[in-house]
Amino acid sequence: MKTSLKVKIGKLTLKNPVMTASGTFGYGVEFEGLAGIKELGAIVTKTITLRARAGNRPPRVIETPSGMLNSIGLENPGVDRFIKDKMPSLRRFKIPIVASIAGESAAEYKRLAGKLDGVKEIEAVEINISCPNIETSKLFAQSEKSTKDIVEAVRSATGKTIITKLSPNVTDITSIARAAESAGSHALSLINTLTAMAVDIEKKESMLGNITGGLSGPAVKPVALAMVWKVYNAVKIPVIGMGGIMDWRDAVEFILCGSTAVNVGTANFVNPNAGAEIAEGIKKYLRKKKIKDINDIIGGLRK
Ligand SMILES: Cc1cc2nc3c(=O)[nH]c(=O)nc-3n(C[C@H](O)[C@H](O)[C@H](O)COP(=O)(O)O)c2cc1C
Repeated sequence: MKTSLKVKIGKLTLKNPVMTASGTFGYGVEFEGLAGIKELGAIVTKTITLRARAGNRPPRVIETPSGMLNSIGLENPGVDRFIKDKMPSLRRFKIPIVASIAGESAAEYKRLAGKLDGVKEIEAVEINISCPNIETSKLFAQSEKSTKDIVEAVRSATGKTIITKLSPNVTDITSIARAAESAGSHALSLINTLTAMAVDIEKKESMLGNITGGLSGPAVKPVALAMVWKVYNAVKIPVIGMGGIMDWRDAVEFILCGSTAVNVGTANFVNPNAGAEIAEGIKKYLRKKKIKDINDIIGGLRK
């Protein structure tokens, strides 16, 4: 039986719904030889900013029960060096590249999107308005107005597919989702990490240099599933789900809850080939269930 795993996110067509989550797969090259990169639907790159960022004080990563905390703080070489130094190797993989961007204002997001607009191999831009590890008092993703302003600014600077990455650190994620949709975002991705911390009782200090960080991995999966389901039912644009996807079964849960595509994050640190294995596992599941087209089960959760 022929089984199609092809999905569409705006103008972007993916041969299968499995993408790497921003910040967990570097710029692809770091995983060469360890992962079946060509088997992935797409790579989402580490978030880039206008100027280079050194990131936060160490320690920046620790393991927690059923998950991990990170407070990387958007370490990256800046957009110009990303285009010059990182894009040549990303191009070689011949799979769609989604560039994640973050700015300090709508105008900065616009400049970033404008700079990337001319880079052919970048097929979509993911607007990261939800990083919990930077020195702002409020996340843009916690305000409907900021979300709208940023999406509109990015739209005015690029013809590429726009994905807006939402934060779980909000009271009502559906109102932010609707704001992004009405401003013209072609898709939504969720969830970014949950603000969290861990304490060393001997030293009486936080285990992270930045004090707080973001929680990811299996611990967040039930929260992420509920948010994906709520957002799926609140908007008409595609939803890209993530949060604790460790194997194909987790991915199928997200697809049934309304994810057109999924991102694999923390799992890459345990098994660099997780993404490729998840894509294969989804295919086998569909064949076993005699489902010809993955699109037939997106949001197919029985009510
Ligand atoms: C070490 C690390 C770095 C991350 N860096 C970014 C980033 O730069 N931009 C971003 O949008 N999300 C970043 N994230 C969040 C992930 O993309 C993802 O939203 C989150 O980890 C939930 O998925 P997971 O549980 O599968 O890891 C990072 C996560 C981790 C663990």
